Amino acid sequence: MPATRVRRAYSCGACGQQAPRWVGRCAGCGEWGTLVEEPFGSPPARPSLGPVPTPVRLADLADVRPERLPTGLAELDRVLGGGLVAGSLVLLGGEPGIGKSTLVLQALARLSAGHKVMLVTGEESPAQVRGRAERLDEPCDAIEVLAETRLEAVLAAIEAHRPAVCAIDSVQTLRSGLLEAVPGSVAQVRQSTAELVRLAKEGGTTILLVGQVTKDGGLAGPRTLEHMVDCVLSFEGDDLRAHRVLRATKNRFGSTNETGLLEMGAAGLASVDDPSRLYLAEAGERVGSCVFPAIEGSRALLVEVQALVGPTELVPPRRVAGGVDRTRLAQIIAVLGRHAGLRLGDRDVFVSVAGGARAVDPAADLAIALAIASGHRGHPLPAGTVAFGELGLTGAVRPVGHTARRLAAAAAHGMQMALTPPEPEGSASTPAPSAIRAVPGVGEALDAVFARTRG
Ligand code: TYD
Ligand code: MG
Repeated sequence: MPATRVRRAYSCGACGQQAPRWVGRCAGCGEWGTLVEEPFGSPPARPSLGPVPTPVRLADLADVRPERLPTGLAELDRVLGGGLVAGSLVLLGGEPGIGKSTLVLQALARLSAGHKVMLVTGEESPAQVRGRAERLDEPCDAIEVLAETRLEAVLAAIEAHRPAVCAIDSVQTLRSGLLEAVPGSVAQVRQSTAELVRLAKEGGTTILLVGQVTKDGGLAGPRTLEHMVDCVLSFEGDDLRAHRVLRATKNRFGSTNETGLLEMGAAGLASVDDPSRLYLAEAGERVGSCVFPAIEGSRALLVEVQALVGPTELVPPRRVAGGVDRTRLAQIIAVLGRHAGLRLGDRDVFVSVAGGARAVDPAADLAIALAIASGHRGHPLPAGTVAFGELGLTGAVRPVGHTARRLAAAAAHGMQMALTPPEPEGSASTPAPSAIRAVPGVGEALDAVFARTRG
């Protein structure tokens, strides 16, 4: 009797198109690497149902606050919304070398003071993990380390040892024996994540899953991973700077507005307590510079918008945006031309936010406009000036949220003047710069800061 051949079928994780064999590119939607193995053959018999389930009225449910396990790393806890939620799965993505393994080890070390914690390492040997642990200023001795890449073995170990928190570094190294695909492929990564999510929900173990991101910034595998997990954190930064930014791109148990700022040093990652100091390092009375009080979740911080304006032969001239929105930049340049008489048609305009920070909030419009105007005129803004407000197409400066917090942050950093939209200022009790100029339009804003230098 011939051995039964296991038959396989594949379907695209992005569009659902089916294929009889694995191919690199989906014939349906043209995406690369999205085909995953599907069980093939006649559908299994319908399982018997048992008693019919009864839904429950929301009002009859007890008020269950999720149990949180604070990691003790303030910046990580802030982004998570107060700590890891018990029984959840958190995906931590970032480029190689950014510090994911270090962050995870530090979090486990802190958690190990009160909880049983385990680290599954597929990328590094236990000796390498130990080497890293020795560099850190953290008590790592109680962390249990398992060097394993077989998914089923990892699941069995978690079930047997029941750690409160288990970190897996990384999902790309896991391989399920049920699939033929190689580790790191979409099929394997998806299968591993699905099994780990199930285990977290059923067994109550909180799972911290590390994922490498590809060059284009996506977590390896399609976005299908993101909807399976409770929380997606991305760890960003660049090779040249020591500081790292942690953001939540999805959070079932908290907000996605919070950012965490960490600095990589000789003994691992440390919180950056005063981010404004980091971002304002270069700010001063300089041409093409304007300080913007930004709101990042529960934190207000000052960032410096920089603009370089120069003559060009290029048609159309260059508009380069770093850390600000490209479309908004084009709009701000148009508004400056139409409503403030700034002719930039034969000028290249480069705008970026110093220190790798971002100012994508429309409230940054006024600061961007002032930085460009300063760069164009060759005059700095008065020292200690901050500006915020959204620019309308009519040239009006529109009100934005969090006025009082922005003013307080400016005052805390010794800023003397704030240009704001025309709206009631924060209550008298909140600290604010000594001079507040509420400007109705972009022209008035320019007059307010360049009054001395006009002509
Ligand atoms: P790592 O956590 O291994 O990054 P990832 O897991 O994201 O690939 O750390 C990356 C870099 O951080 C590495 O180049 C060494 C550096 N590092 C420090 O500067 N200080 C430290 O204390 C540690 C542990 C690492
Ligand atoms: Mg690593």
